[in-house]
Amino acid sequence: MVTGAKGMLGTDATALLEGRGHDVVGVDLGDLELTDAAAVKAALGDVDVVLNCAAWTAVDDAEEREDDARVANATIPQVLAEAAAATGTRLVHISTDYVFAGDATSPYAEDAPMAPRSAYGRTKAAGETAVREGLPDAHLIVRTAWLYGAHGGCFPKTIARVAAERGGLSVVDDQVGQPTWTRDVADLVARLVEADAPAGTYHATSGGETSWFGFAQRVVEAAGLDPAIVTATDSAAFPRPAPRPAYSVLGHGALERIGVAAIGDWEERWSQASGEVLATP
Ligand SMILES: NC(=O)c1ccc[n+]([C@@H]2O[C@H](COP(=O)([O-])OP(=O)(O)OC[C@H]3O[C@@H](n4cnc5c(N)ncnc54)[C@H](OP(=O)(O)O)[C@@H]3O)[C@@H](O)[C@H]2O)c1
Repeated sequence: MVTGAKGMLGTDATALLEGRGHDVVGVDLGDLELTDAAAVKAALGDVDVVLNCAAWTAVDDAEEREDDARVANATIPQVLAEAAAATGTRLVHISTDYVFAGDATSPYAEDAPMAPRSAYGRTKAAGETAVREGLPDAHLIVRTAWLYGAHGGCFPKTIARVAAERGGLSVVDDQVGQPTWTRDVADLVARLVEADAPAGTYHATSGGETSWFGFAQRVVEAAGLDPAIVTATDSAAFPRPAPRPAYSVLGHGALERIGVAAIGDWEERWSQASGEVLATP
């Protein structure tokens, strides 16, 4: 079962898992009330694995509506974990770099302490804790970051559109992370499940690192424009309700320890993904 099946990651995950021969049931808002413990338990009856992609992902809105964000990002994972414990189902729960403070200078290990700085991050951290406590032996928490994909609004699509419309743009150079393709996350989740990976926390981000400015240059290039039209600025020029992590680079030691290949370098992955991602409005 894939929850949040119509979201950016859920859409790719559903297609990829079906392509690998898995029998997938996708649920999204309106299909199954994921806060209803009895309904979720009944729905998980004969499900081997549930992949939870459902989430409140509006990072800025969460500052004003933390209680609503908490329902999607913490209550639902708790209900899923408790139902999965009762039905013998494994749970793959998708989480985020926002559980960290974002002020490190070397990649965050999977067991680095969580210290969220935003409402969104707090609710996602609470979701992780609920999953670890509710299903200690049968969960995979898969953190990702800086996602882009064909089936949703995302940074590369915005940058390509603005670059074409305005002929130039400035992008922040003081936030560093790992641009990551939803299809690569879906593929890694499939490989973890198929390998029967030990319960625990894994990082599903591309290798290497760049700033949003660096990524925007590669996006503009892929859109057939001159990367020199992108200029660097800093976060002070773009005040937002929720603080953004300055450093969101995640380490991949846990994957290495179990012999599951991490996602490749972000630039190589973007060169594979860009045609498909930018072709979809
Ligand atoms: N996007 C990123 O850069 C990023 C970075 C790090 C981690 N993540 C994590 O990756 C996962 C997938 O994110 P995404 O980018 O694919 O997000 P998305 O496109 O917003 O997808 C989330 C899906 O969950 C659905 N949903 C929201 N509330 C729900 C509820 N109460 N019950 C059932 N479904 C609900 C949404 O429906 P509606 O659209 O109708 O609300 C949407 O279809 C999330 O766990 C997110 O925290 C994302």
